[in-house]
Amino acid sequence: MSKTTIIPVDDLTEAQAEAELARLAEEIAAHDERYYQNDAPTVSDAEYDALRQRNAAIEKRFPALVRDDSPAKRVGSAPSGKFKKVRHAVPMLSLDNAFSDSDVTEFVARIRRFLKLDEGEETLFTAEPKIDGLSLSLRYEDGALVRAATRGDGFEGEDVTANVKTLEDVPHRLKGKRIPDVCEVRGEVYMTKSAFLKLNERQAKAGKPTFANPRNSAAGSLRQLDPAITASRPLGFFAYAWGEIKDADMPADTQSGMLEWFARCGFKTNPLSKPCRSADELIAFHSAIEEERAGLDYDIDGVVYKVDRLDWQKRLGFVSRSPRWAIAHKFAAEQAQTILRGIDIQVGRTGALTPVARLEPVTVGGVVVVNATLHNEDYIKGIGSDGLPIREGRDLRIGDTVTIQRAGDVIPQIVDVDLAKRPKGAREYEFPKLCPVCKSHAVREVNPKTGDRDSVTRCTGGLICSAQTVERLKHFASRNAFDIEGLGDKQIELFHAEGLIDSPADIFTLHKKLERVRKAVFKQRETLAQEREQQSGKKRAKALSEADRNFKDVDNLLAAIDARRRIAFARFIYALGIRHIGETNARLLARNYGNYAAFEQAMIAAADLESEAWSDLQAINGIGDVVAKAVVDFFAEKHNRDALHALLKEVTIEEEEALDTSGSPVAGKTVVFTGTLEKMTREEAKAMAERLGAKVAGSVSKKTDYVVAGPGAGSKLGKAESLGVEVLTEDAWLTLVGQ
Ligand code: IVH
Repeated sequence: MSKTTIIPVDDLTEAQAEAELARLAEEIAAHDERYYQNDAPTVSDAEYDALRQRNAAIEKRFPALVRDDSPAKRVGSAPSGKFKKVRHAVPMLSLDNAFSDSDVTEFVARIRRFLKLDEGEETLFTAEPKIDGLSLSLRYEDGALVRAATRGDGFEGEDVTANVKTLEDVPHRLKGKRIPDVCEVRGEVYMTKSAFLKLNERQAKAGKPTFANPRNSAAGSLRQLDPAITASRPLGFFAYAWGEIKDADMPADTQSGMLEWFARCGFKTNPLSKPCRSADELIAFHSAIEEERAGLDYDIDGVVYKVDRLDWQKRLGFVSRSPRWAIAHKFAAEQAQTILRGIDIQVGRTGALTPVARLEPVTVGGVVVVNATLHNEDYIKGIGSDGLPIREGRDLRIGDTVTIQRAGDVIPQIVDVDLAKRPKGAREYEFPKLCPVCKSHAVREVNPKTGDRDSVTRCTGGLICSAQTVERLKHFASRNAFDIEGLGDKQIELFHAEGLIDSPADIFTLHKKLERVRKAVFKQRETLAQEREQQSGKKRAKALSEADRNFKDVDNLLAAIDARRRIAFARFIYALGIRHIGETNARLLARNYGNYAAFEQAMIAAADLESEAWSDLQAINGIGDVVAKAVVDFFAEKHNRDALHALLKEVTIEEEEALDTSGSPVAGKTVVFTGTLEKMTREEAKAMAERLGAKVAGSVSKKTDYVVAGPGAGSKLGKAESLGVEVLTEDAWLTLVGQ
């Protein structure tokens, strides 16, 4: 969720409400897309529900502000375009949510009020588990399955008939007598937890992406272009609702009667469904099912209560996207206690080191949890920020008993630690100082804007860390860096996967591996052709022919690489992808050091923070401490220097033209500014001195030529005097430079 401060709905001004509704519409739509189209949600169901609830509350307070694209008017999201679209004869709507017992009491009371029921009259409900899968509408004509469609946006879904026909739980013909001419049966497709775990194991072995949870794997399996793949994935189906059926053809007049009829037709219905007569019985059903939840082999995320009598359902009708006669009572986020067995460090593509908790396996919400994210070093130290749940002053140590929470789809988190159960002698966890992948130093940077320490620890082995290789190489070859035509992201991924390039220098020796390069490119063409074939459904007339063994593009690529064997110094520095070194900073460094040899030597010397090299570097106008530190850290890694030297065997760096400072009285002089300047800011003074060819240093040494001292100058002034360095007032300095 976003980190903006949340203003209570009652305190919102109209303008704030309007902005908030716009933000929520956008955020919810983005979550919908990730959930429904990519099968890859990034927030828990609980967080998502909270966004929708807030949207609803704001709309209720400011009805005039309801947007045309209000999330309340949408269910799910539009179909993705992979499959043929199907318009639902009867829309597939959604359910309102209840989160607390009082929401349930209110739901029952609302219904009784609406129906104006006398006290003596009973309200019977059917309570059913809420299956966490994806809903499906099956259309039968004269008893035969003619179409299966996903929900999509509720009005239009995707035609997944061919895939659904491979599901064992979906009868191709309805059993029994007196089958309506047209009848749409609706329900939930799901994957069992055990099948999900097995599938993920297979995916991982094959080097394919794994699914986050059974729901996503069910969705992914159903939305395959190739029905054979769907058939190989065990999917189940529970029937619980219906779409188009003529009134005269209705086989029952209650929800429970309909469930029995579905079973007679050959469907599975959920065996845990139960009649309930009051809010108390509904609430008791909710707790009973919640207790059973972990032992079930399919995921459920709550229970659903439905008014049993269909004539009452009809009278109650719908409010916007959900029926007034039903509600989903969700489960709270689940927690469990377990033991923190170890902490592993993963290195991401940008070099960020992320700690992961290795846990004593424990079942939470029916899923065996063995790891949890620990976010960063501060989180482990118990000084988590960013709204993370670990509380102040509670660090995590190996052996600790911790509480973990799984909220819907999200990766489990550690939310508490039981200090009373801490084993004796458990030591504070020491965050690694070296990258576990490449053994380069790992550092936490200081945010140049806020001056705060960054929460992320990052590997400095930019050029050699295999966890970061591909991203680095892409940057290296990109337009504003080496600008190698024909060496785009896809090519880099391919050559890296084929073991052809690992470091920048390898790019320039590709010509020596011509045969392997051609083979890789040919393989890529084959795969592309196959993919196209799958998409279009058409078979190719023949396999790639000899004509496709024309490697003109490979020749062009090698020529493009050759054309970049000479490069401007600033581009070269930028291409290295050092943290904080964008094009501007690269240019500053190039101008300041003129050539690579001088630059490298200075950066190595600058590792000593007492050195002149360090104060010179920091003194470059525009290069702050953080940036300076990033460059120094980069060069401090021997691996990086080795990679650079290999690269320098292949490329020639053009020297950067020095600044024209002829005629400047301070060209080549070293100046230190101290105290308060009154005619200009320190930044301006630095910039002016540098324009005139002077070096601006941060500390006074024997090599300092001038110290410009304003009021309040302290130790630097004293040092200048003791070393006999010439001290100037601000005015004297301005006179000297002729301003
Ligand atoms: S009834 C008009 N019953 O929950 C409402 N839905 O949030 C028809 N779901 O889209 C839905 N189990 O995907 C109903 N026993 C059940 C359910 C169930 C799971 C899902 C379904 C629906 C969503 C609503």
